[in-house]
Amino acid sequence: MQPNKNPLSIEDLWEDDLRARYPNPKEKSQEEFRNYDSPERDAVKAFYQENHIYQTYDFVVQKEAEFKPLTKRRMTLWEAVEFLNTLIDDSDPDIDLDQTQHLLQTSEAIRADGHPDWFVLTGFIHDLGKILCLFGEPQWAVVGDTFPVGCQFSDKIVYPELFENNPDANNPQYNTKLGVYKEHCGLDEVKMSWGHDEYLYHALKDYLPEPALYMIRYHSFYAQHREGAYDHLMNKKDHKMFKWVKLFNPYDLYTKSPTAPNVNALRPYYEDLAAKYLPNEIAF
Ligand SMILES: [Fe+2]
Ligand SMILES: [Fe+2]
Repeated sequence: MQPNKNPLSIEDLWEDDLRARYPNPKEKSQEEFRNYDSPERDAVKAFYQENHIYQTYDFVVQKEAEFKPLTKRRMTLWEAVEFLNTLIDDSDPDIDLDQTQHLLQTSEAIRADGHPDWFVLTGFIHDLGKILCLFGEPQWAVVGDTFPVGCQFSDKIVYPELFENNPDANNPQYNTKLGVYKEHCGLDEVKMSWGHDEYLYHALKDYLPEPALYMIRYHSFYAQHREGAYDHLMNKKDHKMFKWVKLFNPYDLYTKSPTAPNVNALRPYYEDLAAKYLPNEIAF
């Protein structure tokens, strides 16, 4: 099959930018991530320019109506993994790993630390929602930091000044601290900017333990899990569950190494995990 010419070029730049913003405390130097030159920084900023302007409350309502019915495609776990892998990323000459390998590096690091099997499975599947790109969605509606819509955009979100041209920032219904929400209403009541996290959560919400669902749904919500910027919307359960989101984040962000995992050798283990937790075919 011809690979899809839909490069996730911004994805790696986003992740490099994340590692520059949140360096691995266990590594002495993150220079290679911090010192990337300005064309790459400009690309990240241009990406957020679109993301911050177009992610509005109405846009999220529209995308939820389109994707939450899960009528796009039915696939086994491995079919979904292979489908995601048809996304080519030609932006990163140093670390030439495909999507499956990123997933396996994340999950194998979780497994090596002796965590429960559902946590390992979560590491393996956490980015499957990026198949949104293959359904023709623009990158600004697939990857990037996520944040609540329907209330004031926090200045703890990356490039906060770029929200200036988001219509919601100038709409009194949405631009107060609480906006359309009640204090401590709980994140389940809160609409998040649309992307791969929220999409995959809906596809898997009936199958995995609650901590796993939180990790999937909020792993790009850096303004909360790193900055605590939305405590006023969180309830007690959210705070408890965000311990898992925080535990997951380093595995996502810091396990990229140039050594490729052996996909064929690992496949049976992950197919067994899928058989234990997931239906044979997942509706996307
Ligand atoms: Fe992700
Ligand atoms: Fe990831």
